[in-house]
Order: sequence, then structure tokens, then C-alpha cells
Amino acid sequence: MYIKKCSILFCIMMLLFQSGCDIKTTKQNKELESIKEIKIGFTVYRRDDTFIAMIVSNMEEAIKEGEQQENIKITMNIMDAKGSQTVQNDHIDKLIEQGCDVLCVNLVDRTVAATVVDKAKAADIPVVFFNREPVKQDLERWHKVYYVGAKADESGKLEGQIVADVYYKNNGAMDKNGDGKLQYVVLEGEQGHQDALLRTEYAVKTITECGIQMDKLAGDTANWLRSQAETKVNQWLQIYSDTIELILCNNDDMALGAIDAYENADKVLPAIVGIDGTALAIEAMKEGKLLGTVKNDAQKQAELIFTLCYCLATKKDASSKIDFVREKYVFTEYTMITPDKIDMK
Ligand code: BGC
Ligand code: CA
Repeated sequence: MYIKKCSILFCIMMLLFQSGCDIKTTKQNKELESIKEIKIGFTVYRRDDTFIAMIVSNMEEAIKEGEQQENIKITMNIMDAKGSQTVQNDHIDKLIEQGCDVLCVNLVDRTVAATVVDKAKAADIPVVFFNREPVKQDLERWHKVYYVGAKADESGKLEGQIVADVYYKNNGAMDKNGDGKLQYVVLEGEQGHQDALLRTEYAVKTITECGIQMDKLAGDTANWLRSQAETKVNQWLQIYSDTIELILCNNDDMALGAIDAYENADKVLPAIVGIDGTALAIEAMKEGKLLGTVKNDAQKQAELIFTLCYCLATKKDASSKIDFVREKYVFTEYTMITPDKIDMK
């Protein structure tokens, strides 16, 4: 008798619980149905940066597709901080005031993410950082904070591999003075950027591990920029003249700047490698001016940023669509681009 009473009670409780759940899901569905528009607040450190411009245009594409697929209006307000963190902080305030559903932030100074996270948290707006990786502690300040990017060491390894492959393929011809070492210079990205130091470190490490001795002549930052790289290489040409055998570049724009310097000085190009896989770099590679480059997948990164934004704004679970690392990080893979690994038509 007692057991029977208990089981009736249990069934009633289950029914109540079930109807509670039903009410909740219908409520959630209604909320979703009532979402007619998603507003994405988007701020970049510099819109004229070639790679960032690639992310922006791919993001625009992803939004167009998303609007069609989901039958919903999606707007993106893009703000250009033009290299100033103060300006970017003001832009973030504006985007929050305008009532965006999600914030995408390409920090100017990647060490000050905490301020951004706190502002967003106060307004309960999720944040997706991209390309310029905040420190772990800042990402851990709130559960609605994410990072989309790629692993810098991976690109360095692939860049080093391109050099080693060509070195052995041509029986060491890259070592022009035949002293058994590669005299090299490095064009570095912005100081403090996760992609600058690590790309250099892993490129050099990989070449050395492949059994090639390295002899560093010089290295300096050209802040990811073609024009600054050209100026820097002009200076090095004055000092080292024809002794430079290899130029390792933290990105393609700086590799193109190095090529500009040699061409303007009417000098024979040394081996030059880049990272990003921009259209102009691939062009230069096809013309035989660049050994190769490493594709930094702007399209995939933009698609992932978009998917994450969409899920956050519509309160959908993103984990079925995106592979998260430690719940917060989303990484794309780098791939090698060399004359024999691309359609040369
Ligand atoms: C890219 C560079 C770009 C920089 C901007 C890097 O990941 O390779 O080309 O200038 O990001 O933050
Ligand atoms: Ca040499």
C-alpha cells in the first residue's frame, strides 16, 4: 500500500516537472521566434590591415549567407580603432549603448581585455575576441567570453618547413656563400602580439631541427606593414649588402615590403617566406619572388566568428557546430602554400 502511494506521488511529481519543462521550452521557442534581428558590434584594431580586411569581408559574406539560411535580419556595425585603444574603448561603449546582441573585438592592445570584458559583463553582452589573443586570466573573467584565432607556433613551424624543403630540394644552394650556415634577417610583427615572437621562434627552431645551421644578422619589427618592412630592409641592405641569404617574415605584407626594397635597389632577391596566404603574396610566389607562405584561414575564422555570434545572440548551443578548446577557444588550422601545393594555372 505504502509503495503504491509512493509511486503515485512520484508519477505526479514527474508530471509536474515535465509540464514545467514544457512551459520553459515553449517560452524559449517563443523568445527565439520573436527574434527578428541580430545586431553584431564589431571593432577592429585597424581596418587597413590586410589580414583584418580579409576577416571583415569574409564576415560580411557569412552574414549574407546566414540571413538567407536563418531567414532573419543580421546587421554588423564595424568600428575602426585606427590603432588606438582609447578610441576602441569609446567604440565599445557606443556599441553597448546601441544595444548590440554580441560584441566582436579585435583588440588594439591585447593586454587590456579585462576592461572590455567588465564593460560587456555589466551589460550582459557576450564577447568574441579574435586574432589578437587576450591573456588567459582576462578570458576567464566571465563565462560569456570567447577567442577565435589560430595557433602561432603552428604557422612558424610550417614557415620553417617551407625553407627547409627548398633548401634540401636545391642541394643547399640557398647558402650562397657556402659557409654551411644560412645568414638570415627577421621582419617581426608588432611587439607583444602572440603571432610575432612565436612565429619567429618556431620557424628558426624548425629549420635548425631539419639540420640547417642558422646565423642571424638582424631582426626588427615592421609592425605587420609593407611600407615599414621596405624601409627596414633598405637599411639592412646598406649594412649587409648581398650577404643576406634568407628573410623570415612574420606576415605576407612584410614579405612584399622586403621584395619592394630589393626590386627598387635592383638587387637579386634572397629566399623570402611569409605567412597569411594573401592574394598578392600568392601572386608574388607564382612570379618566383617568394618561396611560399602559410595560409592563415580568414574565411574559416570569419565563419566561426559568425556562427558563434549567431548562437550567442539567439541563445542556441554552439557546441554542436563548433569544436571548443577548453570551452572558450576556437582555433583554425594553418596550411602551407608553396608553388607545388597550389593550382598554378
Ligand atoms: C596576421 C597579420 C596581421 C595581424 C593583425 C596576424 O595574425 O598574420 O597579417 O597583421 O594578425 O593582428
Ligand atoms: Ca651562408
